Amino acid sequence: MRYLTFALAKGRLAGKAMDMLRGLGVDCREFYDPNTRRLIFADEERKMRFFLAKASDVPTYVEYGAADIGVVGRDTILEERRRIYEVMDLGIGKCKMCVCGPESSRELLRHRQLIRVATKYPVIAKDYFYNHRQQTVEIIKLNGSVELAPLVGLSEVIVDIVETGTTLRENGLSVLEEICPLSARMVVNQVSMKMENERITALIGQLRKQIPGNDAAGRRSNENSAFK
Ligand code: PRP
Repeated sequence: MRYLTFALAKGRLAGKAMDMLRGLGVDCREFYDPNTRRLIFADEERKMRFFLAKASDVPTYVEYGAADIGVVGRDTILEERRRIYEVMDLGIGKCKMCVCGPESSRELLRHRQLIRVATKYPVIAKDYFYNHRQQTVEIIKLNGSVELAPLVGLSEVIVDIVETGTTLRENGLSVLEEICPLSARMVVNQVSMKMENERITALIGQLRKQIPGNDAAGRRSNENSAFK
């Protein structure tokens, strides 16, 4: 039996995903060792391998087949637009993609003014403003701490993830519009889905039992629009 390889988005999601897999009996003690510098962990008995990758790289590993399966946020899936199957909402890492800014920017949005939008998600922001809102804007790509942009005059609004809302509140910003809900998804390589169908389908079935109210749909992620 060949290894089934998983790419997990580094950080909170990876820990939560691993906990779910542990609930199915997957044994990967090394993963929980805080001192390890290993990049790949294995459950030899079940022939499963796991590696941690930067979230934005997970869809790439899965599209090219370096990983059969990925666990990553829907934000990354929508932004990267890779040819992969999105098979399951894991019901963890729930948050929202939003347009945020100072209250004073609400009017600029309402009047469809040519505003500047700072974001780590230029694809999602462009799709939302151009296709959904039919508003021309200037998108400015940032790599983090996006809430800074309206505070220092770089942009009028931001498109970013809101989880608890604490970052916005502490910086005098508000949610001006909600773009779409987000959560962690399981994604699968298109060839692996055929070649390893039995194992992957069984795994999906087992995981699904742990998740109440998921959306179970096996869609191609690049046919996915956030705003339908
Ligand atoms: C994310 C996001 C917001 C914040 C939202 O940032 O981009 O800044 O979390 O969380 P909250 O609503 O619970 O305050 P992250 O921590 O990933 O860091 P970054 O801004 O450097 O990307």
